[in-house]
Amino acid sequence: MTHTWSVQRCDTARLADVVALGNLAFGDGYFDLPKIKDILNNGAPFYTAYGETGDLIGYCCSLYLPMREAERHMKLPENAFAGRLEPETPVCFMKSMAIAEEYKGKGLADRLFASCLADAVTDGLRFACSSAWKIGDSVPMRRIFQSHGFVVHSEIPMLWFDDKDYTCVVCKGSCRCSGVIYYKFLNGKDD
Ligand SMILES: CC(C)(COP(=O)(O)OP(=O)(O)OC[C@H]1O[C@@H](n2cnc3c(N)ncnc32)[C@H](O)[C@@H]1OP(=O)(O)O)[C@@H](O)C(=O)NCCC(=O)NCCS
Repeated sequence: MTHTWSVQRCDTARLADVVALGNLAFGDGYFDLPKIKDILNNGAPFYTAYGETGDLIGYCCSLYLPMREAERHMKLPENAFAGRLEPETPVCFMKSMAIAEEYKGKGLADRLFASCLADAVTDGLRFACSSAWKIGDSVPMRRIFQSHGFVVHSEIPMLWFDDKDYTCVVCKGSCRCSGVIYYKFLNGKDD
């Protein structure tokens, strides 16, 4: 079966659908409306995809943050990229992405991720990073990060454990999953 989709910048009116897809993919409490509004209001690239029937079938959102805040999100010590980025340097933190079950494995995540990254480059950001979900030994986003030139910095055990509102769909309670930290200097600068 072939699928078609349309990809666009996220629209305020459809935020509830993003919350629902995020919670389905990661577990209850992962997103709520205030959280997703804050992400949209940050103004960093946030793309959504819709299927033939107009349903939301995927999203990829990011945040532009000073390096020291991105480090906090990733539970890295301050100055984890010592000497290469100042704490106040704005960076693109790839926050979250999910694809509806029926549309997985068709390149949609890659398409949404590429759109976010291209905008970050256009906006003049020098650096992108993310904490990728590790489920057992598998990192669902590994191929996508690798194919876009990201490299692994480190692995952080129980990265999301402190988020008490969140019930991980894998752990069935507080999340004990690790996060793998990926990063990339954009435009080949500072490599
Ligand atoms: C991870 C996810 C976003 C990938 O979406 P997708 O549209 O299926 O991805 P793509 O079709 O663009 O595939 C990109 C690559 O990732 C690989 N991949 C996809 N899901 C994978 C998984 N669960 N484990 C390992 N590799 C996976 C694909 O095989 C593909 O590699 P290829 O180019 O060599 O074929 C999707 O599976 C999803 O929503 N998962 C649940 C939520 C999640 O894990 N989000 C990411 C959190 S960091």
